[in-house]
Amino acid sequence: MLATLTLFLGLPLALATEPQSCAPLVPITFDNTTIPQILGQWFYIAGASRYPPHLAELRAVTFAAFSFSPGSHEDELNCTEIIRMNETCVVKNSTIQVFQQNSTMAHVENGVVSMARLIQSDKDLLILNHINIDFPSLSLSARTPNVSKEHMEEFKAHLQCLGFTEDEVFHTSIEVQTPLQGG
Ligand SMILES: *[C@@H]1O[C@H](CO)[C@@H](O)[C@H](O)[C@H]1NC(C)=O
Ligand SMILES: *[C@@H]1O[C@H](CO)[C@@H](O)[C@H](O)[C@H]1NC(C)=O
Ligand SMILES: *[C@@H]1O[C@H](CO)[C@@H](O)[C@H](O)[C@H]1NC(C)=O
Ligand SMILES: *[C@@H]1O[C@H](CO)[C@@H](O)[C@H](O)[C@H]1NC(C)=O
Ligand SMILES: *[C@@H]1O[C@H](CO)[C@@H](O)[C@H](O)[C@H]1NC(C)=O
Ligand SMILES: *[C@@H]1O[C@H](CO)[C@@H](O)[C@H](O)[C@H]1NC(C)=O
Repeated sequence: MLATLTLFLGLPLALATEPQSCAPLVPITFDNTTIPQILGQWFYIAGASRYPPHLAELRAVTFAAFSFSPGSHEDELNCTEIIRMNETCVVKNSTIQVFQQNSTMAHVENGVVSMARLIQSDKDLLILNHINIDFPSLSLSARTPNVSKEHMEEFKAHLQCLGFTEDEVFHTSIEVQTPLQGG
């Protein structure tokens, strides 16, 4: 997952066609309480990306869970991911750099740096927006393997505002799917 983290982040594009009702993606401003709040187990729920390598992975992922634990330095998080892609299960350990000064997280995999911002949301949700690629990319993870209909609809509204259609949103198999409003 950083395949999943790698996968699931994106720039809040100021689309010309953006409806008036679109709520902006508001990044969390990191302080010394942010990291303790995101430690522990998360389940990847859904994501969308226009970045072709991410798209290929999103299509293949049928389950992903990850866990953040304190790293060896205060600006690092250790991450263990369990990803099922097609019929193959992969377990990966990685380290995530946390830059408090600009509220970003960075992950390096195979020499490729992925940067993400955390988007303000419910405390039991983790919405990640990739920022170092020129394609919108957003993912939803949660403390539980499923999320409420309301939370899913809020996430889908963000995706719709980024210009994604229903067909471009990839879900893990567990959650209950609801159509994009008006889409
Ligand atoms: C968190 O930061 C605030 C303000 O920067 C500081 O007063 C407080 O002592 C810090 N708390 C911890 C646990 O480091
Ligand atoms: C974090 O992960 C690194 C690399 O796998 C490891 O060397 C280090 O001991 C881990 N830190 C903690 C606190 O577990
Ligand atoms: C998953 O399966 C699809 C279709 O069978 C294939 O194109 C893709 O390369 C596979 N991906 C992985 C990561 O195995
Ligand atoms: C990954 O980290 C976990 C927890 O720190 C450890 O139990 C496991 O052996 C590590 N796996 C690999 C492949 O490094
Ligand atoms: C955040 O700060 C780090 C360290 O200064 C820098 O490497 C990274 O590019 C910055 N990220 C953004 C999105 O500005
Ligand atoms: C997740 O699913 C279970 C079983 O269907 C349900 O009881 C629970 O309320 C759901 N959780 C959320 C956050 O919707």
